[in-house]
Amino acid sequence: MQDVTSNLNEIIRIEGGAPLNGRVRVGGAKNSALKLMAASLMATGKTTLRDVPDILDVTIMSELLRRLGCEVAHDPSERVLTIDVPESIRHQADYDLVRKMRASTAVLGPLLARTGEADVALPGGDAIGSRGLDIHIAGLTQMGAEITSDHGYLHAKAPMGLQGADIVLEFPSVGASETLILAGVLANGVTRLENIAREPEVMELCRFLLRMGAQIEGIDDASLTIYGVEALNPTEYTVIPDRIVTGTWAVATAMASGRVTIENACPEFLEMPLEKLAQTGVEISSNGRELSVTSDGDLKAVDVVTLPYPGFPTDLQPHFIALNAVAHGSAMVTENVFEARFRFVQELVRLGADVHIDGHHCFIRGKARLSGAPVEGSDIRAAAALVCAGLVADGTTVLSDVVHLDRGYEGFVPALRELGAVVSRESI
Ligand code: UD1
Repeated sequence: MQDVTSNLNEIIRIEGGAPLNGRVRVGGAKNSALKLMAASLMATGKTTLRDVPDILDVTIMSELLRRLGCEVAHDPSERVLTIDVPESIRHQADYDLVRKMRASTAVLGPLLARTGEADVALPGGDAIGSRGLDIHIAGLTQMGAEITSDHGYLHAKAPMGLQGADIVLEFPSVGASETLILAGVLANGVTRLENIAREPEVMELCRFLLRMGAQIEGIDDASLTIYGVEALNPTEYTVIPDRIVTGTWAVATAMASGRVTIENACPEFLEMPLEKLAQTGVEISSNGRELSVTSDGDLKAVDVVTLPYPGFPTDLQPHFIALNAVAHGSAMVTENVFEARFRFVQELVRLGADVHIDGHHCFIRGKARLSGAPVEGSDIRAAAALVCAGLVADGTTVLSDVVHLDRGYEGFVPALRELGAVVSRESI
């Protein structure tokens, strides 16, 4: 299991210029595994999750569940994680964990539904935007919860249980949709949720809950009807493949050139990014769960606009900015989901990229070459995009703040080396 302290003094060194060739396997989706782990709190007993990635965020969520009273065991070699939930659990998510990983707030819905009470540290600002909880709070309040905040904590109470309600989300927030789905499954009566997020990980949470005994109608639609049940049962479940990691390997191959076959890929969740990648001139073919990307490194710039699923995912926006930085022509990348997600662009400029920001638009003029330099990854996807840029930069790129990469990418450096990249991880 990933160690929270081991990567604080480590860097990744990349010598640009080597093509990528071979096969790489993608593990289970971070953004699904974390939510299934939190949802396990809804049932007493042992839940088994398969294909759970060995990443830092899973370590943090495991620690959070332990503090709530659960026994958690993760066997990374078998990719299996078990969570044994006792009859009585605590109801507080501490600040030291929430500040490390905002997704810790995923326990808000389960704790409130299960215990009638939740005290969750407020996540505060982070490197990619303010990321409020107002849509979560508005929905839970409609379901009868009393919510207050003081001393940096959100306190939610529903001593008589939550009540089903008709809720229209102001914005299809992934986190708020998940909180309200989780709240609805154990509420009294019927909950109707409109304008919910349709990200594959949200739909997968619904399927997981069905397996636990929940009654949910309308999965894969923009509205859901949830019939509250008395109790849920623990279950076994396999996590879906990580679409953002899949997209990262596809972009890395496009930029570095070569031919890579991505195993356990999920092309069906990546329609828009793969369409955009094809427009850059890259050859893409898929065969069931395998996706092959072939590139001569000669790329055409491509415009991107991020939107809730099935729109272009904000989590692949940094990668496409990096790609455009070495493509022929100019492109505009527009960010509509997180307001501060262009911060990492300053690091790309250190590599010589020609990039200008105007509000939520990023204008990129492609260059023939980037130039290796020391850079810092400010969040998970920014760090991955900087590694992609380093693969094609002249000379050496040194990425510090490796912790961000470890939060979401399992075995990234060994996999890159296996594919032929000249990359190493070093302690400083
Ligand atoms: C999840 C993903 C993240 C992804 C994002 C959008 C996890 C652990 N993380 O984040 O990787 O980039 O979906 O696909 O699953 N907002 C509010 N009020 C709220 C909730 C959200 O204003 O109550 C805003 C946020 O500030 C942001 C936008 O809505 O600007 C989208 O946030 P949301 O969809 O909730 O993303 P997360 O669940 O945080």
